[in-house]
Amino acid sequence: MSNRLLIRNISQLVTCSGFKAKQGRDMNELCILEDGAVAVENGVITHVGTTPDVLACLDGYYPEINAQGKAVLPGFVDSHTHFVFGGYREDEFSWRLRGDSYMSIMERGGGIVNTMKATRESSFGELKERAKERLDELLAMGVTTVEGKSGYGLDLETEIRQLQVMNELNKEHPIDIVSTYLGAHAVPPEYSGQTDAYIDFLIDEGLPAIHPDYNVRFCDVFCEKGVFSIEQSERLLLAARKQGFDLKLHADEIVPLGGAELAARMHAMSADHLLHISDEGIRQLAEQQVVATLLPLTAFSLNEPYARGREMIDGGCAVALASDLNPGSCFSASIPMLIALACIQMRLTPEEAITALTINGAAAVGQADRIGSIDVGKQADMILLHYPSYKFLPYHIGMNIVETVIKSGKPFQVPRLSDRPYFK
Ligand code: NIG
Ligand code: FE
Repeated sequence: MSNRLLIRNISQLVTCSGFKAKQGRDMNELCILEDGAVAVENGVITHVGTTPDVLACLDGYYPEINAQGKAVLPGFVDSHTHFVFGGYREDEFSWRLRGDSYMSIMERGGGIVNTMKATRESSFGELKERAKERLDELLAMGVTTVEGKSGYGLDLETEIRQLQVMNELNKEHPIDIVSTYLGAHAVPPEYSGQTDAYIDFLIDEGLPAIHPDYNVRFCDVFCEKGVFSIEQSERLLLAARKQGFDLKLHADEIVPLGGAELAARMHAMSADHLLHISDEGIRQLAEQQVVATLLPLTAFSLNEPYARGREMIDGGCAVALASDLNPGSCFSASIPMLIALACIQMRLTPEEAITALTINGAAAVGQADRIGSIDVGKQADMILLHYPSYKFLPYHIGMNIVETVIKSGKPFQVPRLSDRPYFK
């Protein structure tokens, strides 16, 4: 009996109903019910409707949560992070405040290679402990599924250590983790000046070393001027696809290189960053139904112009939003801030921002059929807000208004900073 749950009298039930990515105008459809209810059994949603309708269908005892005065939404899917890493780069952040660019720091041997050194020196236990703390913070902000990338080892042993950390945490932590192999995050010092040879190494030894037991779904590449070219990225991604990986790309982040077009040509699951995407890139992502994953916290942190989210949605793209949590370009996974930036700076509507963090985030990790919305048959991942409307998410800027997270039907109360009276 205790594997059941009923959430009832929900002031605003935002289901985001759907089983695939929402493109363009459809991103505004949140599918809202007043006085809603959701019943759960064995971690799966069994009933969704108004409270009287759901009650009429239920038999037997259900532990109940009364959600009067609250909005309920699907759990958030953070579909692009680098949450497993050693060390920090606070000095580089200060240098950037003084005017140094992200790429100039990278060219001087800082950047990703700096974190690579710290990650290679970190034990499995150290990496796991820090990563777990980051997951705890994400859960408290309503994230129920997170994508995580390797890419700070750039050798066989450390890349696998990162992937194994994610695999273990996926089993032990309430958050579900979708793993991505990002061996092509930077060229390691051992291959300095030999980028093609490093790509050969990734194809011949890196990809084959990813054992199926590590549960790695995606292969990703930092396709960028001065890092991996379009040709090098394509060569790696073709090999990855042959080995059964789905594809993601860091595309058009720093310069307009044609990464979005490559993602469209390769039928990648998502193209990410896209600060400098071309008009043709927007058209092709929409046409090929590649999810455009936007990371406004990174643009904010790097003080770069935001991706053209408004234009992408108007052009028919399926846009997802993600944190990009990493120790360099964006040491933040603040979901509240991310939502505010998406709405205020990229001019997404609150409805589009929520779609981007739920069903479209689920699509970006290839799981729109089982998470990302409150539909019968889906995993019971939901959040309850302190407020009666989803519109408080962008409006209460930078504040965490998640009261309870339901993960696979199990409730987690989020500790409050203070007791705030509202709607008296
Ligand atoms: O997504 N751009 C490449 N990768 C990361 C940054 C990683 C780092 O700086 O450590 C990103 O922004
Ligand atoms: Fe990234």
